[in-house]
Amino acid sequence: MITTAETYHVPVLLNESIDGLDIKSDGIYIDVTFGGGGHSKEILRRLGKNGHLYSFDQDPDAEKNIVNDQRFTFVRSNFRYLKNWMRYYGVDHIDGLLADLGVSSHHFDDETRGFSFRFDAPLDMRMNKRAGATAAELLNNYGEEQLADIFYIYGELKNAKRIAAAIAKARSEKAIETTGDLMSITEKLFQREREKKEMAKMFQALRIEVNHEMDALKEMLYGAKDMLGEGGRLSVITYHSLEDRIVKNMMKAGNVEGKIKQDFFGRIEAPFRLVNNKVIVPSDQEQQQNPRSRSAKLRIAERL
Ligand SMILES: C[S@@+](CC[C@H](N)C(=O)[O-])C[C@H]1O[C@@H](n2cnc3c(N)ncnc32)[C@H](O)[C@@H]1O
Repeated sequence: MITTAETYHVPVLLNESIDGLDIKSDGIYIDVTFGGGGHSKEILRRLGKNGHLYSFDQDPDAEKNIVNDQRFTFVRSNFRYLKNWMRYYGVDHIDGLLADLGVSSHHFDDETRGFSFRFDAPLDMRMNKRAGATAAELLNNYGEEQLADIFYIYGELKNAKRIAAAIAKARSEKAIETTGDLMSITEKLFQREREKKEMAKMFQALRIEVNHEMDALKEMLYGAKDMLGEGGRLSVITYHSLEDRIVKNMMKAGNVEGKIKQDFFGRIEAPFRLVNNKVIVPSDQEQQQNPRSRSAKLRIAERL
């Protein structure tokens, strides 16, 4: 499949999320989810000649969108290692960090990687194709209860237990290898009118587990809290409620559990000020033009 930066991914909430960074001309910024580079290019457009942008992506496919600009550094890594990489580059404070979480349209459109049930493909689903267990390995080896938890927690599927049971039964006869295998095992469990939506949720749940997305997000947010200087901005776009809750907790309480902590004198510890109290969602026009944006939520906070 041939993709260009334009077909790779249409950036979501582009202006709103970059406005949220309140870019200083000579500031140091990080885009932890480079993808097609839409957000990164907008940051570069607003940066002056002494500013710098470091962009992360763990998927080597994103490298084809790298921009040739002296003010730009691409880091092919999981963003959970943010602090280590910034130490490597000699950066101890940043002025803003943008995250546009999850996978890109490129992942869904790639017929070979198993992210979408639109194509029959090996169940891989790793964003970093060089590391970790694939979705097939997980489906064939995890305990039935563990699978049910994944479908319930990450996919919010009410019939998670029945899905896990069907998988456990099927794999005892033949290993599950492709998206087609998984669909034929589970499609009878979904109601016809909701079949596509629920199938998408099942795929989403597997993808989140395969890529350890929640753990990576938590680590990245602690890294951002440590690295943002006073007045630095955190702008995060999420696509499902669990991610959004983690981000909201960090912005409100300074930890991912959302626990309000007090110091010795009883003062509430609040490392961030919320820039928007209500989440920002895409306009009706954006949602119509880009269906992927429909579940997007943007939160912005400033480091105190
Ligand atoms: C929603 S897309 C970002 C799209 C981008 N903002 C644009 O405008 O094209 C998310 C990207 O982040 C990458 N990604 C997701 N989780 C990651 C992680 N933990 N570490 C590094 N990259 C990650 C994915 O590979 C994907 O390319």
